[in-house]
Amino acid sequence: MEIMEIKQRLLDNYKGKKVFVTGHTGFKGSWMLAVLKTLGAEVKGYALAPEGSPNLYELIDGDKLCASILADIRHKEKLEEEIHHFQPDFIFHMAAQSLVRVSYDKPVETFETNVLGTTYLLEAVRKLNKQCSVVVVTTDKVYENRETWDAYKEDEPLGGFDPYSSSKAAAEIVTASYRKSFFKPDHYATHKKAIASARAGNVIGGGDWAIDRIIPDLVRAFSNDETLIVRNPESVRPWQHVLEPVCGYLLLGAMMHQSPEKFATAFNFGPMEADNLRVKELVEKSLKIWVSGSYKELVDKNAPHEAGLLRLDIGKAMKELGWKPRWNSEKALEMTLNWYKNYKADPLIITENQIGEYLG
Ligand SMILES: NC(=O)c1ccc[n+]([C@@H]2O[C@H](COP(=O)([O-])OP(=O)(O)OC[C@H]3O[C@@H](n4cnc5c(N)ncnc54)[C@H](O)[C@@H]3O)[C@@H](O)[C@H]2O)c1
Repeated sequence: MEIMEIKQRLLDNYKGKKVFVTGHTGFKGSWMLAVLKTLGAEVKGYALAPEGSPNLYELIDGDKLCASILADIRHKEKLEEEIHHFQPDFIFHMAAQSLVRVSYDKPVETFETNVLGTTYLLEAVRKLNKQCSVVVVTTDKVYENRETWDAYKEDEPLGGFDPYSSSKAAAEIVTASYRKSFFKPDHYATHKKAIASARAGNVIGGGDWAIDRIIPDLVRAFSNDETLIVRNPESVRPWQHVLEPVCGYLLLGAMMHQSPEKFATAFNFGPMEADNLRVKELVEKSLKIWVSGSYKELVDKNAPHEAGLLRLDIGKAMKELGWKPRWNSEKALEMTLNWYKNYKADPLIITENQIGEYLG
């Protein structure tokens, strides 16, 4: 599908519609709010308060882009109350403990948030008496990682070594269970719920200041004339600009709303094959764009395990949804680093300009 057609489809499906976004104060959630604003949707967000300073949510004045509820996803009754009060047409579930390293320090909190949080959300949807399409956002790390060059397809075994990856794989199993038990696509006329999951790779984009992610680490180091420490320089990841999966999730929601029997299933969202880069290659490309900066590789034998090689097969999303990556790794890096260099003048305007450039 051409981008103009995708944009029209998004406008047709989201303009004036009620969209409930969990994790709206996070990195992807803030980009999602900005995209939904351009589409004219009415948005309610549910998440914890934005973390750290600066953070994208506050920079783009997220409170003006949605009705923001600051609450814990593990608070089952509150979550249900907010969903039922809002009566959403769409739900995008992104609230999560999202970092691999943190999951080693806080495994119980990670499982509670990512697995029980997803269960509570789907339970609230089960009790919702109206048509609703739900996209549960997980990750490329849900697959049983064989550490080979083979790219994972949606029907391959789930697994996950660290608590983050396995909690997201468990969230996939919960989602599939709710779909099979309560939201059967061929009984849609009775329950009116369509539930899909979306597995995306590592995203980059302006406004991420998370710890232990390569682009935020790089921007912090290069802006302060410090040497960047590159962990796992040889690890290969499916890098993509944050707008690729965010627009992919929205397209999936829209297609599912029209044809629930066909699209209520799992989809991978990742880059084209050539953009599966080693961490070191990503840093080298960034250096060329940023112009100044230095880095040092660190291979720490005692570091907690993280996947070394991870590639996604995106054939299903391309063939069935008509989605495809729009920006290659150079363009994604250029947009990302330009964002960090220029955001101080007006963070919302630069974010909206990039959305405008992406959607054409
Ligand atoms: N950033 C990536 O590279 C990437 C890659 C693949 C998948 N994902 C997934 O995409 C989603 C969004 O990721 P992100 O990068 O924006 O993460 P983030 O850490 O920036 O944001 C996480 C959001 O979840 C909310 N949250 C965390 N714990 C919560 C709790 N107990 N109750 C309510 N809200 C809670 C936070 O408040 C925040 O709004 C997550 O599900 C993540 O696992 C991210």
